[in-house]
This record gives sequence, C-alpha cells and structure tokens, in this order.
Amino acid sequence: MPTAKIIATGSYVPSRRLTNADLEKMVETSDEWILERTGIRERRIAAAGENTSDLAYEAATAALSRAGLSADSLDLIIVATITGDMPIPATACFLQNRLGAHNAAAFDINAACSGFLFGLSTANAYIRSGMYKRILLVGAEALSRFTDWEDRNTCVLFGDGAGAVIIEASDGSVGIMSVDIHSDGSYWELLNLPGGGSKYPPSEEAAANRMYYIKMKGNETFKVAVRTLEKLVVDALEKNNLKASDIALLIPHQANLRIISATASRLGVGMDRVMVNLDRCGNTSAASIPIALDEAASSGRIKENDYILLEAFGGGLTWASAVIKW
Ligand SMILES: CC(C)(COP(=O)(O)OP(=O)(O)OC[C@H]1O[C@@H](n2cnc3c(N)ncnc32)[C@H](O)[C@@H]1OP(=O)(O)O)[C@@H](O)C(=O)NCCC(=O)NCCS
Repeated sequence: MPTAKIIATGSYVPSRRLTNADLEKMVETSDEWILERTGIRERRIAAAGENTSDLAYEAATAALSRAGLSADSLDLIIVATITGDMPIPATACFLQNRLGAHNAAAFDINAACSGFLFGLSTANAYIRSGMYKRILLVGAEALSRFTDWEDRNTCVLFGDGAGAVIIEASDGSVGIMSVDIHSDGSYWELLNLPGGGSKYPPSEEAAANRMYYIKMKGNETFKVAVRTLEKLVVDALEKNNLKASDIALLIPHQANLRIISATASRLGVGMDRVMVNLDRCGNTSAASIPIALDEAASSGRIKENDYILLEAFGGGLTWASAVIKW
C-alpha cells in the first residue's frame, strides 16, 4: 500500500493588517484584553474583491511552484473552507478553473477549524487506496466576510488567509502516519453560522437578526476544546508508539494561545517546540494549520525525518489530529 507524503507547501495572507488598536476604535475592547485572553495582536483582512478562491489560488500556486509541478498534473483538488466564494459551486471548482487543473476532480470539505485535517484524512485515504496519486489540499478562509464587526465576543478572533499542500503517493517510509477525525453534532449550538441554509433561508428577517454572521459561545467552547485536545494528542502519540520527546514540532490550530499552551503542557512539549502564528494571523479556521505548516517548513523548523503532530478543534463540533514523518 502506498503512503501519502506532503511534497510541498505554500501559503498566502492578505496584505491588510487589522491590529488590536484598530479594533479598540470599532468595539468596546482593549489590546490588553485581546492579547491576554487570546494571544492575538493582529490579523489579516482580504481586500474588497479578494475572495476565498483567490486566497486559495495564491497558496496553491506557491506550493505548485515549490514542487516544480504544473496544475494539470493534479488528480484531485480539495478545499477545506466554511467561507467559500458561493454556496454553489464548490470553491475547489473556482480554484481548479483558475489553476487550469483540467485533469483534477474538485470538491470542498466543511469541518470548520478542523477542515484541513479532515481534508488530509480524505487525501490520505484516496492515496493509500491507490485511487489518486497527486492531490492538492488547501485550507482557505475569508472569515472577515462572515464576522459580526459589532460583536466584540467574536470580531477580535478571526483573520483571513490560505495554506496549501501537495500530497503524493510514495513507497518510502516517510509521510502521513495517522490521521484521526472526530465529530459530535450534539454541540452544534456552540459554534455556527445559522443563516443562508435551508433552516434559515435568505430573508430580510435573517439579515435583521444578524444570522449571516458567525456565532460562538466562546467560554463553553473553550472548556470542551481543552478537555478534548488534551486527550486527542496523547492518543495520537500512543497510536504511533511515540513519546512527547520524539515530536520535533507541534502544529496546533490557532484559536487561542491558552488552549495551545494547555495542550502542549499536557503533552509534555515545551513551547519552543510549538508553532504559533496566532499573534500575527488570528484564527483563520481551516487555513491556520497549513499556513503554520508552510511557515515551519519554509523557515527550516521541520527537517527530513522529523515527527510532527498536527491538531485541530472547531465547529460541528469537530476535532482531529495527524502524525507525519516529514
Ligand atoms: C472567545 C474567548 C477568547 C473568550 O475568552 P474567555 O476567557 O472565555 O472570556 P468570556 O467569554 O468568559 O468573557 C469574559 C468577559 O470578557 C468580556 N469580553 C468578551 N469579549 C471581549 C472583548 N473583545 N473585549 C473585552 N471584553 C470582552 C465578556 O463580555 C465577559 O464579560 P462579563 O464577565 O462582564 O460577562 C475564549 O473563550 C476562546 O478562545 N474560546 C474558544 C475558541 C475556540 O477554540 N473555538 C473553536 C475553534 S474556532
């Protein structure tokens, strides 16, 4: 059975920075509160007319160019996103068209902040089964379009961006060792965007009730996240017969520095072995892990044969982990 190997990464964040000081002028908040409670200093905001597929395109072309590959060599494109360009078609189809990836099937995955790892699980299964040999997986979000800029509970958290990986079939000993994905829909009310679907179709009433924006019960979500992630990372190590000292780098979903530190501490990994870009990017949902992975890979923080552990938690609720030998 072939293994699935990440052969290249790429990422893109929009140029516009929105700082905590900027947010102080928009809602009743402070740099001190945001930094202390979340670890975020600034986030990037997509320009007018810059859509999720445009962010995805920049990340994907960076990964393709690093791999020295043309888009028509791709068998499949998966985009993990909750902020696609349109409900129909899939953002992956916009991306396929713009890349000229004529031989690739394309679809989206919605697992909120765990979306990239759900996509990795899907890509891993396709490659191990022999069905596809080369897959482009992108996590891309324009969360700023669905952020309620009058709600201080959520508007300080999110940012825009995209990260991409190219995954190939390999017969070597390195690659994706495990991906574990989980869901519990009984917690759907903790984190959602209620309007625009069949339950609350587009209407003036839905707009007046601000139903097209992301809602989150932050404190309750926080508690479930910490409890769940602590178990998730320990299970991921056990499954692969690894010790915490074997992990060269932990790359967590970037939602909250307190959640990241609690998970690292439970695992027994010092913060010097944890990838954090939350301070600069905020929470970019499905894009956060591939952006952080690209930053780690391109800055030399991951070397050949290193073990890396990825983990995420998000709306659904969903959560997931992956262990990769680089
Ligand atoms: C959102 C989050 C940062 C809030 O931090 P928290 O410590 O839980 O804070 P709380 O929600 O309990 O709010 C504490 C107080 O701060 C206030 N507050 C909320 N947002 C604020 C802001 N931006 N500025 C100032 N005060 C704020 C609240 O109104 C509350 O005030 P009160 O005590 O007078 O009612 C945190 O809960 C979190 O990160 N949650 C998990 C996110 C997550 O993992 N999501 C899944 C993946 S996306």
